Amino acid sequence: MALHQRHLAGCVALSRSASWNQNEADWRLMLGFGRGWGISAPEGTICASTIALPYGADFAWIAMVLVLPEHRRLGYASRLLRGALAELEQENRVALLDATPEGRAVYVQEGFRDFWGFTRFSLSTAFLPKQEAKPLTSTHWSQVLALDALAFGGDREPVLRNLAARQPSAALVAERNGQVVGFVLAREGREAMQVGPLVARDAGMARKLLAAALGAVPGPVYVDIADHAGPLQAWALNQGFVVQRPFTRMAHGPRAYAPGDASLVYCPTGPELG
Ligand SMILES: CC(C)(COP(=O)(O)OP(=O)(O)OC[C@H]1O[C@@H](n2cnc3c(N)ncnc32)[C@H](O)[C@@H]1OP(=O)(O)O)[C@@H](O)C(=O)NCCC(=O)NCCS
Repeated sequence: MALHQRHLAGCVALSRSASWNQNEADWRLMLGFGRGWGISAPEGTICASTIALPYGADFAWIAMVLVLPEHRRLGYASRLLRGALAELEQENRVALLDATPEGRAVYVQEGFRDFWGFTRFSLSTAFLPKQEAKPLTSTHWSQVLALDALAFGGDREPVLRNLAARQPSAALVAERNGQVVGFVLAREGREAMQVGPLVARDAGMARKLLAAALGAVPGPVYVDIADHAGPLQAWALNQGFVVQRPFTRMAHGPRAYAPGDASLVYCPTGPELG
């Protein structure tokens, strides 16, 4: 079955069942510009989901591969995934995703392979001290989108604009000689605030932007930090963050590739959004 906005309550229940952070606004965003598929039990409960988010012409993001605990190991995730992959194949789009260790077991069997990893860090309180950074304003958008396209490798304007509107106090930029050389966004979630994406031209700038965004939101807070940004991960641990879980960025099939320039990505947006 196709998932639509009328299924939002069941979708949020799926997030809750896995202690995931997506709230109704996240599902509304994803079902608004992506395509969702679900499996429902006879009494109507949505027991499995998968979403494909088109990010430009070349690839799509597979998100929200979730199955209620009592319906697992019945082939539901692989069935929905295969349906999504078949549609993307027809559109000539490569499928990408960020996998949990549990999900990775399914994806490897379906022909995905690993590219790079990141780690989720959490802080149970608000982050102190405060750090100043420039607010992202309408004059910055074209440069923010260009920098994100370079780093992420696809067009995800609806996502970035949605996050900036939801948490404007944490939508921040770094500039050098009038050019945007870094930006960060955040969003509220079901369990915690999440900071990301964070894209920057260098590590020092990334740390300042991260500190500023963390200081602009209430706790608890999650942030996903790329494993290739080791010093930023060490900084987070020094600030009292704890490691929650690892994720692996994967791509599907013979044309599997990692779009963009990962060296500019300090914090992914979160596994559901890339
Ligand atoms: C990961 C998840 C979506 C799998 O859903 P599922 O419907 O149980 O998966 P399937 O039944 O299609 O599994 C297909 C195969 O993948 C492998 N697999 C699935 N879950 C596995 C697990 N937890 N550990 C090891 N292998 C697993 C098995 O080989 C399985 O075949 P088998 O049951 O015949 O041995 C589900 O466990 C879940 O919702 N987990 C929490 C959320 C999550 O991590 N989602 C992944 C996001 S990236």
